[in-house]
Amino acid sequence: MTTGLPEVPGAAPRRVDPFPAGPASAFLAACRRQAVHHTPVWFMRQAGRSLPEYRAARREGSILGAIADPELAAELTLQPVRRYGVDAAILFCDIVVPVHAVGFGVDVVPGTGPVVDTPFRSSADLRRLRPIEPETDVPYVLRAIALLVDELAPLGVPLIGFAGAPFTLASYLVEGGPSRTFGKVKALMHGDPATWGALLDALCGITVTFLRAQVAAGAGALQLFDSWAGWLSPDEYERFVLPATRRVLDGVADLGVPTILFGVGTGELLGLMATSGAGVIGVDWRVPLDAARRRIGDERAVQGNLDPAICLAPFEVVASQARDVLRRAGTDPGHVFNLGHGVLPETDPGVLAALVDLVHDEGRAGVVR
Ligand code: CP3
Repeated sequence: MTTGLPEVPGAAPRRVDPFPAGPASAFLAACRRQAVHHTPVWFMRQAGRSLPEYRAARREGSILGAIADPELAAELTLQPVRRYGVDAAILFCDIVVPVHAVGFGVDVVPGTGPVVDTPFRSSADLRRLRPIEPETDVPYVLRAIALLVDELAPLGVPLIGFAGAPFTLASYLVEGGPSRTFGKVKALMHGDPATWGALLDALCGITVTFLRAQVAAGAGALQLFDSWAGWLSPDEYERFVLPATRRVLDGVADLGVPTILFGVGTGELLGLMATSGAGVIGVDWRVPLDAARRRIGDERAVQGNLDPAICLAPFEVVASQARDVLRRAGTDPGHVFNLGHGVLPETDPGVLAALVDLVHDEGRAGVVR
């Protein structure tokens, strides 16, 4: 990149500073498809059971108890930042926290995931989803973010706030827990579209308020997890889900923080997801990243997409597959390296630490050294 000014004969060409103002976060810059000094990397589920320090700090019982303790939640958020040198922290929280906080009756069972006492069945259940008031319903989340911002700001590491996207949240509320078929939630969306629409409206309202509160408390980016959207056909996604996802993203657009929309198995949905308003589209490991970039177009950044299971193989395999991801990411700006889904609990943390170094050294998308 040159200045366009006349060059002094014999002198090195003048360079435009690609990082004009403030401490440069490679993560935020890549989300905005700007130049970076290195490819940024973080890992979904970077906090968690793969870290011995997590297992030591996390008490027995539901993860909701750990999340409700701001000092502990902040500590669990920081552990992977210290160990791996990742370019972003993600708040230690869970997608069911806001619906739990408004009293829907949901817990997170270790080894299973979210489980709902009385699943959502009909419009009579809508009154169980009142609007959220973050200062009174989730003060511990706001407190954890405040603690984290104090720790992370001097390091120049942004904090990612997050929420479940309306469909993925609704799937837990309607199914009552994890599902293989999503039969109940699909029966509701097709069989009673009015109630389905009202359910998503209620979840949109809660989610927008929850995300806005996270940014007000200091989160520097937002990820919307639509983890199970890939179980929908493109037609179902477009008719029954995308409008609500768009409303959530519209509801935070004025905040000016980067937004990431992620789901698993979304190969056929990537083009639609690119119209959601999210600035970054998360891609799972099934779609080669160059193909994903073509489906998404060049107005969005991409995040991904090494298969988390590969991290259990010998490091030569991890390195070669990671290099393949970096090669497919190309040289245009706008790549945040990540896994294609969360870190598996049996992953050796040493592998992830070496992977961070490899990405920092070898990533090329938008890199100006
Ligand atoms: O490091 C991070 O990624 C931050 C924390 C985080 C958690 N959950 C903590 C957690 C994040 C971003 C989530 C999001 C989340 N929660 C999603 C979307 C991401 C994805 O994986 O697709 C979903 C679907 C949930 C619901 C949920 N919570 C599941 C499916 C599980 C796993 C159940 C299990 O024990 O295997 C949880 C529990 C959970 N949330 C753990 C962690 C670290 C597991 C460990 C524990 O209970 O200590």
